[in-house]
Amino acid sequence: MRKLSSPGEGWARVRPEWVALAVTMDDVHGRPNIITLGWTMHASGRPSMAAIAVGKTRYSHELLLKTREFVLAYPNSRMGEAALFCGTHSGRDVDKFAETDLEPLPAKLVRPPLIEGAVVNFECRVAGTADAGDHTIFIGEILMAHEEPDEREILLNFGPLPSGGRYLTGISEYMSR
Ligand SMILES: Cc1cc2nc3c(=O)[nH]c(=O)nc-3n(C[C@H](O)[C@H](O)[C@H](O)COP(=O)(O)O)c2cc1C
Repeated sequence: MRKLSSPGEGWARVRPEWVALAVTMDDVHGRPNIITLGWTMHASGRPSMAAIAVGKTRYSHELLLKTREFVLAYPNSRMGEAALFCGTHSGRDVDKFAETDLEPLPAKLVRPPLIEGAVVNFECRVAGTADAGDHTIFIGEILMAHEEPDEREILLNFGPLPSGGRYLTGISEYMSR
């Protein structure tokens, strides 16, 4: 084993990472907002819970603290461009549903919408938070789950490209390169 100069270098080797989109309600602008997340996990079986790590500077952080509910969507393999847009622009400045081809669908139990065509959408209510340095971990109880029966391939993050940006795609396209 060889010592790395930083933990970040180690994490850069833990690829691919699945990509998620968390949708929150923004009552100031009267619209939902979307944040792209790599740091998400299944956190409890009973009750069913998911955890997401959201940076304290993100607009979504503010919205999550205010509204305490979110939709956690796992985008399909063709949603890479939209995920990159949502991960590089803030809802403080832009309407991400209007600026991408992502389409909202009404959820059943929470105010933020589902994302049409995502492999799976979870409706979550914040059950707790944990301070984690520059991020807060929001633990969401999953109230309802929805699948898109014809979508089986989730979006993965294979890491930075030499040309800049990140390589977000599905496993089939990655393997066929
Ligand atoms: C592939 C990818 C993964 C990301 N993962 C996270 C994450 O896990 N947590 C986080 O806080 N930000 C993450 N980001 C950055 C946010 O998506 C980004 O700062 C976004 O513009 C915040 O939007 P908001 O200000 O509307 O909340 C990620 C971005 C990308 C492109």
